[in-house]
Amino acid sequence: MESPFKGDVLKGKVALLTGGASGIGFEISRQFGIHGASIAVMGRRKSVLDSAVSSLQSLGIPAVGFDGDVRKQEDAKRVVESTVKHFGKLDILVNAAAGNFLVSPEDLSPNGFRTVLDIDSVGTFTMCHEALKYLKKGGPGRRSCSGGLILNISATLHYTASWYQIHVSAAKAAVDSLTRSLALEWGTDYDIRVNGIAPGPISDTTGMSKLSPEEISSKAREYMPLYKLGEKWDIAMSALYLASDAGKYVNGTTIAVDGGLWLSRPRH
Ligand code: HXC
Repeated sequence: MESPFKGDVLKGKVALLTGGASGIGFEISRQFGIHGASIAVMGRRKSVLDSAVSSLQSLGIPAVGFDGDVRKQEDAKRVVESTVKHFGKLDILVNAAAGNFLVSPEDLSPNGFRTVLDIDSVGTFTMCHEALKYLKKGGPGRRSCSGGLILNISATLHYTASWYQIHVSAAKAAVDSLTRSLALEWGTDYDIRVNGIAPGPISDTTGMSKLSPEEISSKAREYMPLYKLGEKWDIAMSALYLASDAGKYVNGTTIAVDGGLWLSRPRH
């Protein structure tokens, strides 16, 4: 689908995306690149990074991949610094790395719970922490008089409660809370905007294939009036809105991009 945004809305910007080599993260990388940004992607799998980077470069997008795990502070620091070394600055950090699996609370070990919080919540904080000095107003390489942007990819699971997702619901609730706290403190002190996007069920993603086997999604469609699948494109367009000047007065908000599904109830 064609983008409704002008091709230069992110011209000259440098974006680093964790989880930016696959799924929703990759579509955000691609759309940010198409709209003028230079792209650094971070991930754990070298082959996935390589194919993402060549795919971005084939579109004429300046792109680089750095392997790393958001659970390791030294990786976060190295990747942020490598991005700035490669492109000269950092304007946008997108935290899209996440871990997930379906499990009942009684079958989930405390270490399984901790693993998902480590990736989603602590990983998001760690990346923000390491990126701060480059994102803040007046940071190295920043010619613009304003600070940069952080975009956290969340979920809607914890708005109510979701079966077999106790770990991810807790992790994403923490991410939304980070978004608000950092928006307040870093917005005030460093002129950094911090926002989130909470995707609903998005077709052709690891999340959908892992979390919503066919029988669950067809059953859900029967009783949820607003149930329809979104596309990765829908999330990327919301990310573009928040990252461009169109979103310059938006701070501390997590936009649910789910077609209204989370508030949906059966008709009877
Ligand atoms: C129960 C499980 C489990 C499962 C792992 N564990 N998988 N428990 N059911 N299916 C437990 C393990 O037993 C272990 O606990 C602990 O979790 C750590 O597991 P490891 O395999 O050692 O961890 P690791 O190799 O680091 O893998 C992390 C992962 C994995 C989260 C488990 O799935 C992963 O790396 N995923 C990344 C990709 C991904 O999932 N993307 C989807 C994002 S979709 P013990 O106690 O045995 O040591 C998404 C959408 C969210 O986030 C919202 C949707 C609406």
